[in-house]
Amino acid sequence: QELKLSLEQIEKGGYEHFMLKEIFEQPKSVHDTMRGRLLLDEGVIKMAGIWDHVERFKNANRIIIIACGTSWHAGLIGEYLIEEYARIPVEVEYASEFRYRNPIITDKDVVIAISQSGETADTMAALKLAKEKGAFIYGICNVVDSSIARITDAGSYTHAGPEIGVASTKAFTAQLTILTLIAFKLGKHNGNLGNAEFMSLIAELDAIPKKIEEVLNTTHELTQNIAKDFVKATNFLYLGRGYNYPAALEGALKLKEISYIHAEGYPAAEMKHGPIALIDENMPIVIIAPKKGHYDKIVSNVQEIKARKGKIIAVVNKGDRQVSEMADYVIEIPETSECFSPIVASVPLQLLAYYIAVYRGANVDQPRNLAKSVTVE
Ligand code: AGP
Repeated sequence: QELKLSLEQIEKGGYEHFMLKEIFEQPKSVHDTMRGRLLLDEGVIKMAGIWDHVERFKNANRIIIIACGTSWHAGLIGEYLIEEYARIPVEVEYASEFRYRNPIITDKDVVIAISQSGETADTMAALKLAKEKGAFIYGICNVVDSSIARITDAGSYTHAGPEIGVASTKAFTAQLTILTLIAFKLGKHNGNLGNAEFMSLIAELDAIPKKIEEVLNTTHELTQNIAKDFVKATNFLYLGRGYNYPAALEGALKLKEISYIHAEGYPAAEMKHGPIALIDENMPIVIIAPKKGHYDKIVSNVQEIKARKGKIIAVVNKGDRQVSEMADYVIEIPETSECFSPIVASVPLQLLAYYIAVYRGANVDQPRNLAKSVTVE
């Protein structure tokens, strides 16, 4: 027993939980996911899995992304990325819905499965169905040689390293990194992404690990302090627009799975179609509001929340004034292109969920009722 304990402590590398260790590993895991792929000096993205089948992607009628949970949130951001930069239509589906609804799939479709574990039963079953119907199937997995990695025609591993905490953190940002690389590579190849824009985007992507590191340094203590004020909260809303709408869903999922506080993510503009009725002085609202990303629209959402006395926790860019002045709590992140902002914005949201859960005395690495990989239907 003692030996087991000390081994686990060594594995945790001085952190109290695997989840915290994994959050802090993200500068490295994102960097490792890009290493050997993003060749900045040559102005090239090298991805054998894509390149060897580039015609399949180029001629695809559409790309269907299937996944569950956090991986599905990454898929939603993948849709924004691939549609914006490669102009290929993308649909994102919950694997569990896709497999049971007799979907229309043809040999002109490319199906991308995203799965940290590579063992999720629903994702696996959905892929088998897509394969039977003749689609080209591609895997984005973290676990090498996992079932999904083996069944797919091609794929890209996220090199995030083993993720032990049940709540996915570094695998998510690694998935976003792969999806970004795929979108830029396809866009460059099919001519939708011009060379100058491609070069400036990849230079910015290359700087993301540094920005994650900066965010970890500047928000670690701050998120602990904010968390203390919300230990007794019973509900949370998470709002974001554009690329940060899925980031809001992911922030809410992190909080609910480890702290057991009910949380919902919404596209900020949907607030007025229902959730606004929930807002009063007892409702904490996390709003992701970077400068590049419908900022003026977000400002008016924040005004509406303020008028109803909601408690605003705003994730904004450094030096922000308008949203910050209205917010009760301000978390600053460095500026990036909108397409990278979910990677950077997710980090303080992971920390916030983590500390709220820790202060509530929850078992963050192994939340009740949850397994790391869901191998049952
Ligand atoms: C994430 O924090 C969750 N524990 C869960 O939603 C997870 O992302 C989902 O079960 C999918 O797992 P996979 O990526 O291994 O397929």
